[in-house]
Amino acid sequence: MPIIEIKNLTKYYPDPNNPGKKFAAVDHISLNINEGETFGILGPNGAGKTTTLEMIEGMREIDDGTVTVAGILVNKNEMAVKQVIGVQLQKSEYFDYLNLCELLTLFGDFYHRKVDPAELLKEVQLIDKRKARAKGLSGGQKQRLSIASALVNDPKVLFLDEPTTGLDPQARHNLWDLIRKIKTKGKTIVITTHYMEEAELLCDRIAVMDRAKIIALDTPKNLIKQYAKTAKIIFSMDKDIPMENFKALSGVLEIQKINSNFELQVTNVEEAIYNLVELDKKEGAHLTSLQVVKATLEDVFLNLTGRALRE
Ligand SMILES: Nc1ncnc2c1ncn2[C@@H]1O[C@H](COP(=O)(O)OP(=O)(O)OP(=O)(O)O)[C@@H](O)[C@H]1O
Ligand SMILES: [Mg+2]
Repeated sequence: MPIIEIKNLTKYYPDPNNPGKKFAAVDHISLNINEGETFGILGPNGAGKTTTLEMIEGMREIDDGTVTVAGILVNKNEMAVKQVIGVQLQKSEYFDYLNLCELLTLFGDFYHRKVDPAELLKEVQLIDKRKARAKGLSGGQKQRLSIASALVNDPKVLFLDEPTTGLDPQARHNLWDLIRKIKTKGKTIVITTHYMEEAELLCDRIAVMDRAKIIALDTPKNLIKQYAKTAKIIFSMDKDIPMENFKALSGVLEIQKINSNFELQVTNVEEAIYNLVELDKKEGAHLTSLQVVKATLEDVFLNLTGRALRE
């Protein structure tokens, strides 16, 4: 069952290159997000991810199209929708004179439904810090606090805008665990990210967004299956065999040599390895190392746009 329905959603901003003209930062996008699903919007800087989220959240005016969240038409009920959603912004500021417990109590007072602040702090592993001020928290702790504040009204849908950008790997893993824990409670989560690994790990489905449009939408597995049909085989051998010999193997698309390693781009890993071993036997050579690198969402983006996600 879709909990969010988006039809032709569009936002225009003044075009900085053409005074008096506008450009579409979000260009007639349509998609549904199902109840209980963790849905990712993946795309490079400026793709329109934050603008999309803000319109769904009722925080930014919708120029064209419609958004419905839990049966509420956001276009006409920006305030009502706030009761059923939780929003973690890309950046947050907190009052300096309140401690974490007081902050969450204050935020809870804005809503009809509220969760006990101590329970929330426990959930995000900040209960030891309940008497501390937000400004004294580490980057990872601040992100966990902002997730706690997004949960004060026990929302049906939680929006996370690049929750792990700028965090070190440990803090990032910690946050992933928290997001997965929230997911198991049945909440719908909408998350934006530029991190492929994050999208692949957390999301049930992903919309790939580029230049204001959704260019692909599916499960991470299907996206890779459909748009990144190749894998990489990296190997080295104890004998110098000309590159041309590998290139001639069936299923090999490309080959390059990096230091003493060969890198084969292949469509069928099993077939390529079989042929490689056969060639070795024929040449009297032996593999000294062999590694298979499967395709990732990074390859999906590259194949869809011809560009790397982070350029
Ligand atoms: N308030 C605004 N006024 C004018 N232009 C804006 C405004 N906010 C965003 N834009 C422009 O709209 C486009 C989409 O921006 P948006 O912030 O939605 O991208 P994003 O995908 O969230 O990027 P990032 O990954 O950097 O957060 C960009 O070209 C941006 O410069
Ligand atoms: Mg953004």
